[in-house]
Amino acid sequence: MGTERTLVLVKPDGVQRGLVGEVISRLERRGMRIIAIRMLRMDEELASRHYAEHAGKDFYEELVSFITSGDVVAMVLEGESAISMVREAMGETDPRKAAPGTIRGDFAEEITRNIVHGSDEPQTAAREIELFFPELA
Ligand code: RTP
Ligand code: MG
Repeated sequence: MGTERTLVLVKPDGVQRGLVGEVISRLERRGMRIIAIRMLRMDEELASRHYAEHAGKDFYEELVSFITSGDVVAMVLEGESAISMVREAMGETDPRKAAPGTIRGDFAEEITRNIVHGSDEPQTAAREIELFFPELA
């Protein structure tokens, strides 16, 4: 509830396919403001910290390999109910289940290459923001 901050990543597929502007534009139109933004190539260490909750799962290796495969655009967005607002705009994790009109529903090809990441709850958002933008903490 209220004004929140969340961490969003445009994943390597989104950057390579030229969808950075599309993702930002959709989120800005939903009232999200950019607080910080940068492009970077995630290394294994950052990827393993970012995705620590998934360590040991069968898709983990593929996930880390993909997220470190090219540049990502990381940003902190702020707005009313930012975490759920962004999650709704992204759509379901699996693009086969993501509704048309959502970012994943409109653009994603398969579950690993699903364009975008958004924090899933306030504690996660705080942890992820600190990981990518320690200067904001
Ligand atoms: P994200 O963390 O990237 O915002 O995505 P999410 O919350 O919707 O999904 P999550 O369960 O946190 O999974 C993180 C990412 O792992 C990949 N994944 N692959 N092959 C699979 O079964 C599988 N399940 C998840 C997806 O790229 C997902 O975004
Ligand atoms: Mg997640």
